[in-house]
Amino acid sequence: MAGVTDAPFRAVARMFGNELLFSEMVLADSLARNHKRTEKMARVSTADSPVAVQLVGRKPEVFAAAAEKVEESGIADFIDVNMGCPVPKIVKTGAGAALSDDEEAAERIVKALVAAVSLPITVKFRLGRDSAHKNFIDFGKRMRDAGASALTLHARTREMMYSGRADLDAVRLLKESLDIPVIANGDVRTPEDAARVLKETGADGVMIGRGALGRPWIFSDCTARLKGTVAEKHPPLLTIVLEHLRLLEAYYGRQKAVFVARKHLAWYSSGIEGGAAFRSRINGISDSEKAKEAVRRFFEGKFV
Ligand SMILES: Cc1cc2nc3c(=O)[nH]c(=O)nc-3n(C[C@H](O)[C@H](O)[C@H](O)COP(=O)(O)O)c2cc1C
Repeated sequence: MAGVTDAPFRAVARMFGNELLFSEMVLADSLARNHKRTEKMARVSTADSPVAVQLVGRKPEVFAAAAEKVEESGIADFIDVNMGCPVPKIVKTGAGAALSDDEEAAERIVKALVAAVSLPITVKFRLGRDSAHKNFIDFGKRMRDAGASALTLHARTREMMYSGRADLDAVRLLKESLDIPVIANGDVRTPEDAARVLKETGADGVMIGRGALGRPWIFSDCTARLKGTVAEKHPPLLTIVLEHLRLLEAYYGRQKAVFVARKHLAWYSSGIEGGAAFRSRINGISDSEKAKEAVRRFFEGKFV
């Protein structure tokens, strides 16, 4: 998730199991042109594994150049292509969800990637443009034929953005139509959701998005539920949040970390009594020590 699944977030998620994680969406064009900030985003580490770097873009040759860089770094376990992002800034460049309307362009990208690198290539996409244009089955087959190793279906149309319900029947239909792994995405917020989605769709995995915001333990909770074991007791919430802050400081530097931390702290505090007052306090603090003091006071004694 852009603006969320940076290296510190992934490290916190790793505290809760060794599930497959994805980088933030990385602009293939910036990576191919050695843009420093983009390189940092794509620089995953061995501690990250298993991890995928997700690329977004339009031109096959640019994807290929970016993928070669990812492969040279020797770390990512595979490369995921974003064909589902509905944000106008991305769509108007013909990238993200715009590609699901242009199957030929999408196919050329996957073929170029498969030819350029030996890392597996996966594709994440949506049901289609809108309810009258759901091409996900044909699209999925075409991506498979172009060489994709696995597909993730975010079971909403591009028009739906992030609202409405994900269509589990669609995931099931896609799974039944293909012989490569299909991952179901959309609305998995609890371990029960994960179990239900896998059962109802027959998918090979579930991808969790918003359900992990401020709740990185969702991964181990889901794993335990799927294995039929009891979820491990989590560390106190304060321990998790302070560790996240420490990792943010190490990655972004003390000053920037305070600002990056605000959204995570908002997610961690949501649903907790006094959360609104805590968020307005933290949003007014720019000093790292003062922020940690406020965090200690708010999260002390709280458990998940
Ligand atoms: C803040 C935010 C950023 C996101 N960034 C990305 C992204 O970079 N790449 C991507 O494939 N999906 C991105 N998504 C979409 C999610 O990965 C996921 O497909 C969507 O939220 C539906 O799953 P959920 O219901 O589990 O959240 C983003 C979603 C949110 C809320």
